[in-house]
Amino acid sequence: MDERALIKQAIEARTRAYCPYSGFAVGAALLGESGRVYLGCNVENASYPATNCAERTALFHAVSQGERQFIALALAAGKQGEAPSVVSPCGICLQALSEFDRGNMVLLLAAGPDDYHRITLAQLLPHRFGSAQLK
Ligand code: THU
Repeated sequence: MDERALIKQAIEARTRAYCPYSGFAVGAALLGESGRVYLGCNVENASYPATNCAERTALFHAVSQGERQFIALALAAGKQGEAPSVVSPCGICLQALSEFDRGNMVLLLAAGPDDYHRITLAQLLPHRFGSAQLK
């Protein structure tokens, strides 16, 4: 995996963030097992809870295209107009991503292509709620 390239794509996706209410722009690039990359940005709404985070925008696009297995997600987030900083996905996004994680999904939390924190989803959400709990 070319981590720098994935981060650059998250930074590019971030330029399309629709965030007039928070002024917090987020971009995500999700690498599937197929090699395809799915981009997402946050899409806010005047009815604030209708907002969708960048990670879930990318995830839902990927799954709707038939991709269900993922290698990594790069995240670029921060105040609009400023450089990104290292930010963890929110709890809802961790939960949404965990549905498709087999314990090895890598998160690249990026301040830039050469300045990022590498961590697994399982490290951030070690006691996730999953399908096993529904049995
Ligand atoms: N946001 C994301 O896109 N991803 C996250 O993981 C955290 C928060 C967005 C939602 C909202 O548009 C803005 O950042 C401020 O919360």
